[in-house]
Amino acid sequence: MKVSVVGSGFVGSTAAYAMVMQGIGREIVLVDHDKARAVAEAADIAHAVPFANPLTIRAGEYSDLEDSCVVIIAAGVGQKPGETRLQLLQRNADVFRDCVPQIVQNAPGAVLLVATNPVDIMTHIAGEIAAECGVPTSRVIGSGTTLDTARFRTLVGRHFGIDSRHVHSHVIGEHGDSEVLTWSLATIAGLSLQEFSEVSGTPLGDDAIDTIDEQVRKAAYRIIEGKGATHYGIGSALARIVDVIIHDQRSILTICSRIENVAGVSDVTISMPHLLGGKGVMASIPLMLDDGEQARLRASATIIRDAIDSISL
Ligand code: 2OP
Repeated sequence: MKVSVVGSGFVGSTAAYAMVMQGIGREIVLVDHDKARAVAEAADIAHAVPFANPLTIRAGEYSDLEDSCVVIIAAGVGQKPGETRLQLLQRNADVFRDCVPQIVQNAPGAVLLVATNPVDIMTHIAGEIAAECGVPTSRVIGSGTTLDTARFRTLVGRHFGIDSRHVHSHVIGEHGDSEVLTWSLATIAGLSLQEFSEVSGTPLGDDAIDTIDEQVRKAAYRIIEGKGATHYGIGSALARIVDVIIHDQRSILTICSRIENVAGVSDVTISMPHLLGGKGVMASIPLMLDDGEQARLRASATIIRDAIDSISL
């Protein structure tokens, strides 16, 4: 069970560290255009292995990707304070044009898991380039709104004072400003949030909803303002996605993948709940949204589709 990480900056390295701490996979290879960085990160993380799980981690070249089950692609430049994810786009598209063919050539059977922002569009680009090399769409996914969904569940759980694992709710759409929190479908113990609010005696008014919605949507901006980058949350989300794939867990996660039609927008790579297994996407799951959510999802899908159309590959 070999997992490779292309791009050993904060996000790629933290994903590797999260895998080591949780014992996900047996061998991890870090690749970076800055070889010294990959060597240093691998050494640093390797020193955590005796305190965690017996797997190997090392730096390598593209040729070392051979037989990887999953390749995390975290290569590219990061988001600067105040910069939107979409502004990163063309710079990172050029990076992918260089690295995706080399990944596919060396690990032709791997699931490609994109983390680079803007992740929906970068996943679409990776899918286009990989398709030229014969890789099916189902094997190219992105972290999408997996992290946003976790943030949503955390804040709702905190509001009610309950374990967030009992909050079932999703963030769909763009991993970015236009993402859609599916409030109308959120449940706790099989009850809608309003029903749970009544039985628990904890009010959930419009102010609380607006605050949670804003905190989820703006989480990355706030963290980047304070420390320049986000990496623990996304690194843990990536480790979870890898775990699902290498153990064929068939979990439902809000990763992004290329979908034929979303809210009337065709051929767009976007986050929806997806059934994920050992070979990648098994199904994307449409949701029974209310009219407002459906309109916001359509707007979000249109933003992604327009951004895809705006870049040259
Ligand atoms: C995040 O949401 C920056 O996309 C990254 O944490």
